[in-house]
Amino acid sequence: MDLRSYIRDVPDFPKPGILFKDITPLLADPSAYAYAVAKLAAHYATRPVDAIAAAEARGFLFAAPMALELRKPLIPLRKPGKLPFQTHSYKYDLEYGSAELQVHIDAIAPHAQVLLVDDVLATGGTMAAACKLVEQAGGKVAGCAFLLELTHLQGRERLAGYDCFSLIQC
Ligand code: PRP
Repeated sequence: MDLRSYIRDVPDFPKPGILFKDITPLLADPSAYAYAVAKLAAHYATRPVDAIAAAEARGFLFAAPMALELRKPLIPLRKPGKLPFQTHSYKYDLEYGSAELQVHIDAIAPHAQVLLVDDVLATGGTMAAACKLVEQAGGKVAGCAFLLELTHLQGRERLAGYDCFSLIQC
């Protein structure tokens, strides 16, 4: 199946000059969505993975079905003020301003191998922060999995030292 045909290019979103990669056509096709999740999950079927984590919001769209497929716990990484229990926090810089991700203090067992999942790898800033948060919480990063990698933005270089896998590159 050619998954690229389910990614729509939207020019000038969210601002002029940006070509946005829209994954909603893939989500709208159950066969393509199921195929993508199965392919991502299959890559990790024989690798050591204790849990699957993802940053909100679009990461959840792939992490949740992968967690079910691989029968692993799902760990949401959320923006501040969303998780009800005590949290670990990691603040990171964006192009303009800063952002923060949080995880419950009891979500990650010591030394657990956590697979991180997201829909898109662009600059790698979000995934790098997710990796740091997992490590701060006592876990290890088993790998970083993406539906789509925008290779020209070189996010993979920012994630040097982590095992990255993407289903589609463009
Ligand atoms: C998007 C995407 C990734 C991130 C990739 O999320 O889902 O998490 O950007 O970009 P990066 O590699 O440059 O960090 P966004 O921040 O738009 O939030 P959303 O998932 O809530 O839409």
